[in-house]
Order: sequence, then C-alpha cells, then structure tokens
Amino acid sequence: MAGGKGAGGAGNGGRRERAHARLEELRAASLAGGGAEATARQHERGKLTARERVALLLDEGTFVESGGFVTHRCRDFGMEGKRIPGDGVVTGHGLVEGRRVFVFSQDFTVFGGSLSGAYAEKICRLMDQAMKVGAPVVGLNDSGGARIQEGVVSLGGYAEIFLRNTLASGVIPQVSAILGPCAGGAVYSPAITDFILMVEKTSYMYVTGPNVVKTVTHEEVTHEDLGGARTHASRSGVAHFTAPDDASCLARVRELLSYLPSNNMEDPPLLPSGDDPARADADLDGLVPEDPDRPYDVKEVIARLVDGGRFLEVHGQYAENIVVGFARLGGRSVGIVANQPAHLAGVLDIAASMKAARFIRTCDAFNVPLVTLEDVPGFLPGTDQEYGGIIRHGAKLLYAYCEATVPKVTVILRKAYGGAYDVMSSKHIRGDLNLAWPTAEIAVMGPKGAVEIIFRKEIAAAADPAAEEARKIAEYTEKFANPFVAAAEGYVDDVIRPRETRKRLCDALEMLKTKRDRNPPRKHGNLPL
Ligand code: HXC
Repeated sequence: MAGGKGAGGAGNGGRRERAHARLEELRAASLAGGGAEATARQHERGKLTARERVALLLDEGTFVESGGFVTHRCRDFGMEGKRIPGDGVVTGHGLVEGRRVFVFSQDFTVFGGSLSGAYAEKICRLMDQAMKVGAPVVGLNDSGGARIQEGVVSLGGYAEIFLRNTLASGVIPQVSAILGPCAGGAVYSPAITDFILMVEKTSYMYVTGPNVVKTVTHEEVTHEDLGGARTHASRSGVAHFTAPDDASCLARVRELLSYLPSNNMEDPPLLPSGDDPARADADLDGLVPEDPDRPYDVKEVIARLVDGGRFLEVHGQYAENIVVGFARLGGRSVGIVANQPAHLAGVLDIAASMKAARFIRTCDAFNVPLVTLEDVPGFLPGTDQEYGGIIRHGAKLLYAYCEATVPKVTVILRKAYGGAYDVMSSKHIRGDLNLAWPTAEIAVMGPKGAVEIIFRKEIAAAADPAAEEARKIAEYTEKFANPFVAAAEGYVDDVIRPRETRKRLCDALEMLKTKRDRNPPRKHGNLPL
C-alpha cells in the first residue's frame, strides 16, 4: 500500500489529504467559473449562469459533469497565467423527464464564453458520446465566439463541432438555445441543429455585427434589429421559438424533447393524457364557413383535435400561412402541418414551403407521424415569388412529403386545388390515409378561374355574359367543388363528418404504428436546395 501506513494513515506527509484538498480547490474553482463579479454582471443582464441553466434544463440532481478540470493550452497574450478549470463551457449529461440528454453550456463569465481548442474538444467528446449512446444534445449558447488569443486553433475547434453537428443530423435530436451572443461563424453550429430557441432582448445571432454592416453597406442597425429573437423568429426564420427569459426557454426545450425520440432508431415516447381518442367534437361540424372565401383559424381545428388541446407550435411567427408543430393523438407524438386560411388564405409561398419542408424532414428523421390538415387555394402567383424561386422552394415541400416514410395521414378540410393538392401529402405521393370533410373542394382550380378559362367563348357570346358565367360557375361547383369525385377515384379514402376526425386520426395512427416503408438505396437524394 502506498505510504505503508494503512487506510487512515497520513503516509507521505499527508499526500492523500493534500490530493483531496487539491480536488476540492479545483472543483470550487471550476464551479466558480469567472467569479462572483462576473456572475453578478451576468445576472444584472437578466441572464442565468451556465450552471444555473443546466440545473433548470435537467431533472433535479441528475447532472453528471465531465471535463470540469479542462484548461486551455494558450501561451500567448498572457493567457498562460489565466486558467480557469472548465475553460468556459460546462459539459455533461443528465435526465429530462427520465430520459438521458447531453448538454453543453457556454459560460460567458469565463473569457466571454469564447471557444478555445480545449473547449471545442470538450464539446466534441460530448457529442461523440451522445452519438454512441443515442441521446439528444442540447447546446446552451452564450459566447463571444472564437477565442481571439487562440487564433486558428479556435477556428479549427469550430469546424470539428460543425462536422459533428452534420454527422449527428437525423441520428440524434440536436437543440440549440441562444441565451446571449452568438456571432460570426459560430452561428453555423446552431444553424445545422434541428431547433433554435432564442431569448428575447438578451440573445442575438448574426454572421457580421452592426459595426461591420455599417462599414460594408453603410446601413445603421441595432444588435436587436439585426439579429435579435424577434428578427429571427419572424423575418429570417432562423429561430423556431422565442422565450421571454432563460427559464422559460429551458422549459420549452424540455417540452420539445418530449415529442422526440432519443435517436432515429426509436419511436417518440407514448404519453397518454386521459383524453379519449374517440372524443367527438360537434362544434367542428360548423367550424368551416359556408362561404369558401371566408377565413377561419386552423389552430382552432388543431386544438379541438389533439390530446388536451395541447399544441407546441414551431416557427409560429414565421410564414403564418402554414402552421406546423407537435401535438399528441391518443398519446402518440405527431407532427401537424396545416394550411392557415386566416393568413393569406393559406396560400403556399416560398417561406411557407421551406418552413413546412424543414418540419416534415425533421419529423421523418425522428419517426414522428405526420398529420396534414389541408385547406389551400394553391401556390402564390407573382413575379416576387417566381423570381425568388417558388419553383425550387415549392419543390422542397413536395420532395419532403414524397420522401417521408413515417405514417402520413391527411384531412382535406376545404380547398385542395391544383399542384397544392398533389403536394400536401396526397395519396399519389405515399399518403397512407386521406380523409375529406364534406366541405372539401378538390379540383385543378377554383370554380371562377376554371370557368373563365374553359367557357370563355360561351360566356362572351351569351346574351347576358354575367348570368352565363354564374350558371357555369354553379355547374362547375356542383360537379367538382366537392370531395366525392376524388373519393370515387379512390384518391380520398373516406369522407367523414368533422366531429369524427379525432377518432379517425387516432385509429389511423394506431393502425399505422407498425408501418414499414423505405426509399431506394442511394448515397442521398438531391433535395432542390
Ligand atoms: C476572447 C473574449 C472574446 C473573444 C469576449 N471576450 N469575446 N475573449 N475572445 N472572442 C472577453 C472580453 O475580453 C472580456 O474579458 C469578457 O470576455 C467579456 O466581454 P465584454 O466585451 O466585456 O462583454 P460585453 O460588453 O457584454 O460584450 C460581449 C461581446 C464582445 C459583444 C461578445 O465581447 C465582443 O464583441 N467580443 C468579440 C466578438 C467577436 O468578434 N468574436 C469573434 C467572432 S468571429 P475581460 O477579461 O475583460 O472580462 C468568430 C469566428 C467563428 O467567432 C469562426 C467559426 C468558423
């Protein structure tokens, strides 16, 4: 035995005691991060510390830290005398609602949370382990970016993280919460992950900040307007969620994870809510207005259909003409994609196509069945859209639905016109079950547009053109603006009363729970980017 004095002895002049004391000292230094003053500044800004955030994210007492003693290796600019154990990022794992999750939390109190080579290695090790055990990675970002004193070593560190983000994409869920600065190339790690959440007022993301913008483009813009939460949630679509403060942001991360499996080989957790899957909702029968041009809020339909009315909307402030988000039906996690007649009549445009395509691919990657609620007049016409590439971007949505192999159930609530009928998870592109409400109108185009094209000459030649046009519209509406032509072709599996929808969806998802489908073997498809 070392020291030869037995277990309780003070051999070697108390070497063991000194080792224990050293451990406690290093632990305390690691826990203290940048110290009391920097912590107070963090709190003054309305931000929590890296460790406070981890504690809120995980189930109480479950955090297991690793790398708490790591220090940087920089010897330039006086850095050799400045070492803080942990080096500005807290890494480890713990549980969220009893399931394993890996987390890294950038500590702004240590060198502004800036990323050194050693710090990047901590994150990479964590990601490698998460991939091996098949558990999500949550990144809590609050950093001044590349550690300037380390130069290219820091840039290399970022690139190692980007590579891992990419290789982990579609294998384990990756969630990024932006809780402070996130600038320069550093934005590209969150950008590759599945979800970005931003805190209002205290977080920002941009590739180049206001000063560089001013120099290069002479534009004057604030941090907040350039890259704040509101900007990214409503204008750029970079952020999927915003939250008023750190605590609610972290609560939102926990909620989001509850809809996802731990990895792509598992199904999301089944969480029955007590809401009867067969519950009928008579009010749904009167929800769609009789006048096809009158809007209604599809979120009301969603709330009436899903378990407990609980809907976690994703990208809620962006491209509001399409609604996407997570809910449960009979306890089963589902991704809902719904045209929103209350906004731009639910038309599909570039932003809506990209938003929905991204969501569909996320659901498909993580075995979340898709429920599509369709009421779409078509794709938005106009030079803005054509020059902007609606062909290429609309194709993303079509591609995403076509390639998705998860259970796909569609309910046509009202309009399903033109290419949009095909795109919105029709049976022709492997929709498993397509239902329609009696108010559904399924045709190449709306009655007025159709009549103006196919009966132009007859209407012009009629004694009373207006009356003739009205007659033709009525005739066309009677023949095509209903779900029964499509049902007769077998393109719609059943026409149902709206009140029956929840039961039919729950039954379908139960039937489809063992669905197996696959795409042809290939390196990867060529999504029109
Ligand atoms: C080293 C940094 C740092 C950095 C901040 N600090 N950023 N140290 N490298 N990148 C240090 C500061 O020196 C300071 O240390 C402490 O962190 C807190 O910073 P403050 O400036 O006092 O805080 P604040 O006023 O809140 O301003 C925060 C900030 C600002 C806006 C983030 O610090 C800033 O502009 N930092 C530089 C940002 C940047 O240009 N990063 C490089 C981006 S390019 P002391 O000791 O005084 O407390 C990039 C490339 C990634 O990241 C490439 C990937 C491919």
